[in-house]
Amino acid sequence: MTAARLVILGASGDLTGRYLLRALAELTGAGLLPRDLDVVGVARDDWDDASFRRHAAERLARHGAEVPGAVRHHLVSRLRYVCGDAGDAGTLRTAAAGAGGPVLVYLALPPFVFAPAIAGLAAAGLGHGTRIVVEKPFGTDLASARDLNALLHRHFPEEAVFRMDHFLGKQTVQNVLGLRFANRLFEPLWCAEHVESVDVVWDETVALEGRAGYYDRTGALRDMIQNHLLQLLTFVAMERPAGLGERPLRDAKARVLRAVGALDEAAVRARTVRGRYSAGEVRGRPVPDYAAEAGVDPARGTETFAEVVLFVDDDRWRGVPFRLRTGKALGRDRREVRIGFRPVERLPFGQPDDPGPNALTLSMDPDRLWVDIALNGAGDPFCLDPARIELELAPQELSAYARLLVDALEGDPALATRGDEAEESWRIVEPIVDAWEHDVVPLRAYPAGSGGPLAEPVATTTRT
Ligand code: BG6
Repeated sequence: MTAARLVILGASGDLTGRYLLRALAELTGAGLLPRDLDVVGVARDDWDDASFRRHAAERLARHGAEVPGAVRHHLVSRLRYVCGDAGDAGTLRTAAAGAGGPVLVYLALPPFVFAPAIAGLAAAGLGHGTRIVVEKPFGTDLASARDLNALLHRHFPEEAVFRMDHFLGKQTVQNVLGLRFANRLFEPLWCAEHVESVDVVWDETVALEGRAGYYDRTGALRDMIQNHLLQLLTFVAMERPAGLGERPLRDAKARVLRAVGALDEAAVRARTVRGRYSAGEVRGRPVPDYAAEAGVDPARGTETFAEVVLFVDDDRWRGVPFRLRTGKALGRDRREVRIGFRPVERLPFGQPDDPGPNALTLSMDPDRLWVDIALNGAGDPFCLDPARIELELAPQELSAYARLLVDALEGDPALATRGDEAEESWRIVEPIVDAWEHDVVPLRAYPAGSGGPLAEPVATTTRT
């Protein structure tokens, strides 16, 4: 049943101002926001409906300017505001009072307020029938993720919990499933017999961009690999689900995560890289040394680049390295999944030249797909040249946030991270975090604007 009310806890915060209001405006414009939906913001700022609306209009002008003014105005006129604490049962009761159907509560809050807010919702009698969206980071390690799951499950059934990972709202991420399971062409090759390696890469040119408060305590491994890149890996590696409903899809993803072995210290040493950018230039723009950025404590040794090679120990993938890599302030944006195929066993004509590997690359932003193959070149038919079949993918119509918000409003958690997935992801990442904290792997400097800390990628063949 579609939600009748959306309650945003943290309505004056950055997440609401940057993403949530814009997503709501997009949905309003696309006619996808339920017509009778009330939107109620809750925050501690001493505001009323009018001041919240003014704030929202200003945020939308800044972060949602591509949405037509009339649409933004229509959304803003529907907003209401309740002043109070996110953990206060009375405030929450007021925010939910009179809803004519299910309430969706969005925790757009810093993580330390999650627990009081969940307890407050329960105390306000908003457990049963209410849906709850929880933003990342979902815990800071395995133990805290387990505690958070236990707290949520005390009051909400798993199907009512939407752990948000905006990567799953990206059209091209969803396309991985279409590409694999709706075509005869790729799926038979999608296994260790034919695939040599898989790269999941999220290289960014953006640097810290004023996010030290969050990022310096988080780092690239926890910010990106623990959630987004592991989720991408599940899409690439999963078995064909029986359907795309929440149960079969999330079972298939969780099964992949369970098959990923945790790294011991020797494996962390051999199969991970951590780096931090030093001063440099990105696309002609000077970028200061990360350690000198406002709000950064250099002694924390926070990494802005992380590369990890994992293995999915199941019959399909045994022995195939999955390289997950991400970094900030790199020389170019590269967001892609690359499936590298094994070379043919024998070239039929004994050509001396190596035509280069077959590979399928799915790029996200820009959304493109290409396949690298070898073809007879001009002239001598036995002389091979590398060639590329390339395709532009349909642009994303709704932002990832907007897509996932529709699902949450409609009560479909298929594209939300399930509790066991979040825990499994921490099980995989935590030993790396711990080993890095003990400097098992050096923190390598790379100049902003470069290709990262290593000239060559980390060895992908070392299995331990
Ligand atoms: C966020 C991370 O979750 O995802 C950011 O906190 C990162 O550090 C961002 O830049 C990447 O996602 P997108 O959709 O902006 O490419």
